[in-house]
Amino acid sequence: METKIAEMASSPDIRTPLPGPRAKAIIDRDHSVVSPSYTRSYPLVIARGSGAMVEDVDGNVFLDCAAGIAVNSTGHSHPAVVKAITDQAQKFLHMSGTDFYYEPQVRLAEELAAITPIQGGVRSFFGNSGTEAIEACLKLSRYATGRQNIIAFLGGFHGRSMGSLSLTASKVIQRRGFGPLMPGVYHAPFPDRYRPPLGATAESCAAVCIDYIEHQLFTHLVSPDEVAAIVVEPVQGEGGYVVAPDEFLQRLRELTRQHGILLVADEVQSGMGRSGKMFAIEFTGVEPDMMAIAKGIASGLPLGVAVARAGIMAWPPGAHASTFGGNPVSCAAALATIALLEDRLVANAADVGRHLMDGLKALACKHPLIGDVRGRGLMIGVELVRDRQTKEGATHERDMVVNGAFRRGLLVLGAGKNAIRFSPPLVLTREQADTAIRIFDEALTEVER
Ligand SMILES: Cc1ncc(COP(=O)(O)O)c(C=O)c1O
Repeated sequence: METKIAEMASSPDIRTPLPGPRAKAIIDRDHSVVSPSYTRSYPLVIARGSGAMVEDVDGNVFLDCAAGIAVNSTGHSHPAVVKAITDQAQKFLHMSGTDFYYEPQVRLAEELAAITPIQGGVRSFFGNSGTEAIEACLKLSRYATGRQNIIAFLGGFHGRSMGSLSLTASKVIQRRGFGPLMPGVYHAPFPDRYRPPLGATAESCAAVCIDYIEHQLFTHLVSPDEVAAIVVEPVQGEGGYVVAPDEFLQRLRELTRQHGILLVADEVQSGMGRSGKMFAIEFTGVEPDMMAIAKGIASGLPLGVAVARAGIMAWPPGAHASTFGGNPVSCAAALATIALLEDRLVANAADVGRHLMDGLKALACKHPLIGDVRGRGLMIGVELVRDRQTKEGATHERDMVVNGAFRRGLLVLGAGKNAIRFSPPLVLTREQADTAIRIFDEALTEVER
């Protein structure tokens, strides 16, 4: 028998102290049986979601500007995605695309070939997560070039399995106790225009960071002809939503081409429409050789993809595979997701993203805690500082603002040491963006008092 689900409120509605009694009971159970390695910023226990709204188990309603860490691209349980999932689930759940064929995986690879900014044909390898997409890129880079070394960037996050963790240089807690990691990995500074490294300025940091690779790494530490790949996030995600200058990615492309090094764009967080283009690297005109895609691609179902130029993805049967990778239900969800993104949601991310960015920048005029507001589309970072001159990071205050927003019905997450990220579902409306700005304003005011 069908039970009718009550409509969810379209604006935040907090009815109990947080956590409410039901949430508290579940959290208490979680604490004795679930890995304590998870970082929960506040006690949200979701019961259901719709669009950009989330209801917890006590009936409190929140505006979601976190989207399950930038995953629910089409909003919570978009009817078209749910239909694609249920239609596929009724046909078959699994057959292993590594040993057998099914059309949803082929169609998704065709779609990816059409939407990824790599000319001349690509192939896709399917896994279940961002870290698996990166592992595939790492293995393929070594295999295709016959070289061993990889360059990544300080502040970058690429996942937590041993290979990708070796590239990750975000928070030391993520690496502490797990070494030795994969050898042959070198880290270079990332051109953060708000905190330019190596004594550079906002204007010069792109050139200075390229110079570091050429004249420090390639001179003192590793010969460029032994480097397989440079892996870069066009917008650093976990690092604090830091946008790489266009010039930096363009010069990285020239440098990698000059030395036969593969350029791998990690678009796990910045991809699938979030930036206001399908992929953030499209803002720069740079064509990478490989891309890692996950998070938003299937609206919440697990799927990670390594996409590479066809000539590069030329490894033999058995060289790499995954039992569950490219699960047919995830592929069906991804196909529905891509259709929704192309239809309206990428454009909406650009439009509502501009509106949200303007609103957040306006808040900087009245809140001295705000040091920097940056991002692309609906991928916006707000960096909090104790002093705009010294740029001393306001980590404790950041955590208080995130919690204050939660208590008022707005879900946001921290990123980096002292930034707050806005990564809502791409269905966010201008009115909902205004609500987010209003609540964020109140939370900042409370902390600054
Ligand atoms: C840029 C980037 N790469 C890779 C990953 C790893 O993805 P996953 O957590 O799905 O393994 C993440 C996750 O946050 C990410 O932001």
